[in-house]
Parts: sequence; C-alpha cells; structure tokens
Amino acid sequence: MPLSTIIAPMDLRAQILEWRLERKKIAFVPTMGALHMGHISLVEAARKQADRVVVSIFVNPMQFGPKEDFGNYPRMLAQDIAKLEAAGVDALFAPIAADIYPEGFQTFVSNNAINNILDGRSRPGHFDGVLTVVSKLFNLVQPDCAFFGKKDYQQLKVISNMVRDLSFPIEIVGCDTMREEDGLAMSSRNLRLTPAERQLAPKIYQGLSLIAEAYKAGERDFIKLTDLFKEELAQVQEFRLDSIDIRTQDRLAAFEGDGGVDKPAVALVAAHLGSVRLIDNLEFGAQ
Ligand code: PAF
Repeated sequence: MPLSTIIAPMDLRAQILEWRLERKKIAFVPTMGALHMGHISLVEAARKQADRVVVSIFVNPMQFGPKEDFGNYPRMLAQDIAKLEAAGVDALFAPIAADIYPEGFQTFVSNNAINNILDGRSRPGHFDGVLTVVSKLFNLVQPDCAFFGKKDYQQLKVISNMVRDLSFPIEIVGCDTMREEDGLAMSSRNLRLTPAERQLAPKIYQGLSLIAEAYKAGERDFIKLTDLFKEELAQVQEFRLDSIDIRTQDRLAAFEGDGGVDKPAVALVAAHLGSVRLIDNLEFGAQ
C-alpha cells in the first residue's frame, strides 16, 4: 500500500475510521521530522505490533522556549516522505499549525511533578508543550499503541504517566536509542552541528559509558559517578554542560544518602556544543 500524506484532521479521521471498521490495529509514531535511523527503528517496531502505521510530522512551536531553535529546527519534508515510504509506513499526518492550535486555543496538559525536574527545569514549559501536542495527536490518530525513543528519556516517562493518569487507551512502547558508529545518539539536531563539532560530539556517550563502567567496577557514590562524567566532558572546551544527573529508572527520583546508587539507574545529560543543545542518557545498574 503506498504512503498517503494527510494534512487535514478531517481526512485523517476518515482514514482511521475506515481502518477501525476493518478491525485493523493502528500504531503511531509521532515525530518532528528530519527523520533518521532512530525514527525508522520506531517505525519498524511499530510495524511488528500493528496492521497499520501512522507517522506524524509536526514541528510543535509550543514545546520550544522563546530563545530555542524552533526557527532553525531542520525541516525536510520531501526526504522524510521518501524515507517513510521506504519504511512501509501507511499514512503520514503532517498538519498545519492552525489546525493544531486554532485561534483561541487555551487548554493545556501539564505534569507538575516531573515537568519541573531535569530537562523540565532547564526548559520551562517544554513538557507542557509536549504533553499538550501528544494528547491532541493521540485524540486525532486514536492509535492502539504509540512508539517513543528512550533518547528522550524524560519525555517517555512524562508521556507514560499522562497516559496512565488520564486513561488514554493506548499502549506506550519505549524503544532503545539508536547510535552512530562512534556512539553519538541519533538526533535530528545533529544535523545542526558543524563538521568540527560533529567530531567532538561522541564525548557525551564516552562520558556516560565511564559512569556505567565505574558502576560495574563497584562505584556506588553518585557524586563520584557524575564527577567522572564532568571530568571527561571538561577535556573538550567547546562543551558547555547544562546538567548531568543520576536518577532511578522507574520514577526519575534522585538518589540520596549513604546507600548510593542502589536501584536500577539512568544517567541523563544535557550539554551545549556550539549552538546545539544535545541530550543523551544511559541506563545502568541491576534491572
Ligand atoms: O520527540 C519528539 O520528536 C517530539 O517531542 C514529539 C513527541 C513528536 C512531540 O512534538
């Protein structure tokens, strides 16, 4: 079946209704475009679990802060369509902003507990923007299951919590981060790195790997573990570290006291390289 590109929400509804009447299971992969192998791996996971796969491309203005890269975010619809077609996607939903945010728009989805820690602290309003658009897209696509990358670890948690709290009848599936050969996590923002910055960028993954190795060798002190990362990144003066945190995998809670890292953990980092803010994370510790 060839890929159909759908712009209008009404047309999307008609297509979804048709598939529902045929009792097809529908999977959804929301994206902001500039697709790479990380997105395609989500599509592949989606195809294994459902009869029809819908991908959305919408660069969501609400999740960008006033000083962030909304204007510079890479947009390449023609290439994206070719990649989705090759990956066997059934429908691309590429709405226009006026259909997502009609005049008078005033209702938001927010999560105060998790929104204001980690990336939510550095990017005020970011996760409200993500939750609001994802809940709108869920209502429009009405999928049975939706696929998100673990690269945006906090986003995956915030969305899973929203689905639980607001009873969306949707299974959320988290998929492993795809990495370039040198370890750099795949991200649309990598396109904005200069060639020189691209050479330096894998340092983030090297630093995260040091944490996991030290934990394996018996280190449990979260301050010593994060210091290892800071020392590694400090070797490259072009980096400006935004945050490095070690949290529990289940609730993103901070480790406290003498027990150190005593639960399955994840190290989450955000760092600026030139004009690009990169994020990455690595899970470690007993499962
Ligand atoms: O991960 C992304 O690309 C975006 O945050 C998402 C989930 C598509 C919402 O705009």
